[in-house]
Amino acid sequence: MPANQTSVVQPQKIYLADYTPPTYLVEHVDLTFRLAPKNTRVLARIRFVPNPAATSRDFFLHGELLTLINASIDGTPVTPTLVEGGLSCDVPDAPFTWESEVEIAPIENTALDGLYMSDGMYCTQCEAEGFRRITYYPDRPDVMAPFTVRIESDLPVLLSNGNPADRGADFAVWHDPWPKPSYLFALVAGNLVAKRGSFDTMSGKHVDLAVWTRPADAAKADFAVGALQRAMKWDEDVYGREYDLDVFNIVAVSDFNSGAMENKGLNIFNTAAVLASPDTATDLDYERVEGVIAHEYFHNWTGNRITCRDWFQLSLKEGLTVFRDQQFTGDLHGHATKRIRDVIKLRARQFREDNGPLAHNVRPESFVEISNFYTGTIYEKGAEVIRMLRTLVGPEAYAKALDLYFARHDGQAATIEDWLQVFVDATGRDLTQFKRWYSQAGTPRVAVTEDYTDGTLTLTLRQTTPPTPGQTDKQPLVIPVAVGLLNPNGDEVVPTTVLELTGAEQTFTFSGLASRPVASVLRGFSAPVILQREQSAEELAFLMAHDTDSFVRWDSGRALACQVLVSMVRDHAAPLPAYLDAIAATLADETLDPALRAFVLDLPSEESTAQTLFDLGATPEPDAIHDAHEALKNHLAEHMVTLLPQVYAACQINEAYTPDAAQAGKRALANAVLNLISRNDGGATAEMQFTASNNMTLSLGALHSLLDVGQGRAELAAFAQRWADDRLVIDKWFSLQVSLAAPRRLLAVLTDLTGLESFDWKNPNRFRAVFGAITSNPAGFHQADGSVYRLMADWLIRLDSANPWTASRLSAAFDGWRRYDKARQGLMRAQIERIAKTPAISREMAEMVGRMLG
Ligand code: PHE
Ligand code: ZN
Repeated sequence: MPANQTSVVQPQKIYLADYTPPTYLVEHVDLTFRLAPKNTRVLARIRFVPNPAATSRDFFLHGELLTLINASIDGTPVTPTLVEGGLSCDVPDAPFTWESEVEIAPIENTALDGLYMSDGMYCTQCEAEGFRRITYYPDRPDVMAPFTVRIESDLPVLLSNGNPADRGADFAVWHDPWPKPSYLFALVAGNLVAKRGSFDTMSGKHVDLAVWTRPADAAKADFAVGALQRAMKWDEDVYGREYDLDVFNIVAVSDFNSGAMENKGLNIFNTAAVLASPDTATDLDYERVEGVIAHEYFHNWTGNRITCRDWFQLSLKEGLTVFRDQQFTGDLHGHATKRIRDVIKLRARQFREDNGPLAHNVRPESFVEISNFYTGTIYEKGAEVIRMLRTLVGPEAYAKALDLYFARHDGQAATIEDWLQVFVDATGRDLTQFKRWYSQAGTPRVAVTEDYTDGTLTLTLRQTTPPTPGQTDKQPLVIPVAVGLLNPNGDEVVPTTVLELTGAEQTFTFSGLASRPVASVLRGFSAPVILQREQSAEELAFLMAHDTDSFVRWDSGRALACQVLVSMVRDHAAPLPAYLDAIAATLADETLDPALRAFVLDLPSEESTAQTLFDLGATPEPDAIHDAHEALKNHLAEHMVTLLPQVYAACQINEAYTPDAAQAGKRALANAVLNLISRNDGGATAEMQFTASNNMTLSLGALHSLLDVGQGRAELAAFAQRWADDRLVIDKWFSLQVSLAAPRRLLAVLTDLTGLESFDWKNPNRFRAVFGAITSNPAGFHQADGSVYRLMADWLIRLDSANPWTASRLSAAFDGWRRYDKARQGLMRAQIERIAKTPAISREMAEMVGRMLG
């Protein structure tokens, strides 16, 4: 592209409606890799057969950044036509063998997509379309084939998918008998060590497990082996799913765009999502590691054995697998805390997306780059849709439908229609209206009004979904609303009942009541909706104290905190005494799980207060919101000045560290309370905790509290020195300083941090540690002079030239630009446009900024 070009190129979209079956299918793939950093040779021998279901015989193989050395068909050299994105060739209308040799340069691959190098080791990332950077191939998920892979290298560890088939001094051969799409291909070669374990499956098959790391990280891999064993057992017990190879390998990689990848029999993980030790990982890290290991393992059935027909169906595997990993973590560590954590994440990530220019369906109908659709909507909302389905049909029917899904579609590339059909067939239920959850974007609002007369409570539920880009007319959805009723004395008079809201407005009655009850609505967060309900502070405090549903108990506290924050920002009001009392009462309630008490102190984020204000028709003012949040924390600290140290003392732990839920709950509460105590004692208790701590949860909690009250310089320096050689810990050090910088200091902090030698910006974890943390400091990001916007855009442009995947993902920080005042809108818009007009911007980034400007 000429350097003076300024117009924004709109890259080409592809549409779900244009799907056509592959023209040729693959019977078998043989690959040989001669590894070398600058010139790896990849030899492919592929057996193609005409697809009887195809509508043409055009032959096209995807390929990008490949140097073709030679190609032949049935042994006869051919000269294919090289075009952008691949090649075409005249081929027989009968089975044939394609052979090709290409050259690639893994050392130059900074995009970390395809075959690349990290810490001197070779590794791959092929989802969604990275395999085409390895060899010419029909790189689409509905082409499934068994693979045999030969790796030639003198590196000590050579791994690929499937089972080991042969090994020599400088080569290894792997065979994967299970037909798979190319996006599940993986290869690893390096100087690695293994933590080993084993698992005997339900039918008595022995499986060798290994978690591979750099030698220096070996001690941090034990936890992962245990987590994998727990996941394998759970999937047998709960879903009846058995593992299907002799080995299961996991490899930890420092340079990785996402969390982890479910390649068949050879999962590749970001070190951050697999390594853990008490002194370097927090309790939340432990839970995340176990959850991601489970997630990737569960993909073996939901993703690998049954894959997606095309990338529009991505949520078929991701929504279902997230739902399964949520169930797993809940079963192991308690559903109450897991549900609250998941809802916090959903609201922060997915509701935000759904309320802005990037809103899209759980099953999108078009895209430019599928890599931009690994989103909260595909993952977390996709999981919520499955949770609702299970709520509507009940757990037994859900289990029956899943058995049918596995039996019917094993070995296939399936669609959302296939998925819903097993529920129709297993239950006889009509899911036509329910299916709208997949084709309608936006977060539904459910307004609740109530009337009580003569022993009868009438609940009126009204649903509306605001328009989203390209979708103005919204139809009513099927919304399961779980409701229970409490007596004024706090006893439950009507246990949880699921109301099915299908119309735009519907009423539901409960009769025979002795007195006016308090309704507990959306128990367990039974649907991904925003509840609109006028509730008095007294009623919310009552639910906080008495509801039998732990989610509503917590969410009532949130709703009350929201009301308080809004009135503090808008009317400069003092926080309601009823709110302060309710928090104190919850905190003092020793019958309540410490983890749940900790959640009560976790205030809504500044970002969520901004969204609430915007929904109420106000223009959010980031500094005012920040000040209100600070003031509220100070009020809470003052109000509970004697209670806080008592609670803090009661959650000290004397036993050795374990990451289990009981200890983790106490530490969460200790850290939450410490944060308020620091406002009363200037950080003295936090300093002691920092010095005394022998685990990362308490060290980081102390550091957090110190930074929050403007202290902690010495501790930050000590921390940096102690952990200088531990990249994952230093990532936390970077993050914390960005998210907790005083808003007016953020630009200076960012300038300092990005100027450090340790700011290795090409490493996605390091880049994210800095620029991903900005969104948790909205008052800093939205500096009125636009300086942080500009710095962020500079770095996004820079990263985009090396790694479009990660750059494009982080550009979403700008997605809320239309919510702010005219001046900030103008400043943000200017930066988004500057990115859009940058010569040679990636297709990924071009699509993102195009949608944001849309
Ligand atoms: N499929 C991976 C998962 O969810 C995520 C992923 C997407 C990884 C794209 C890398 C690239 O488990
Ligand atoms: Zn996944």
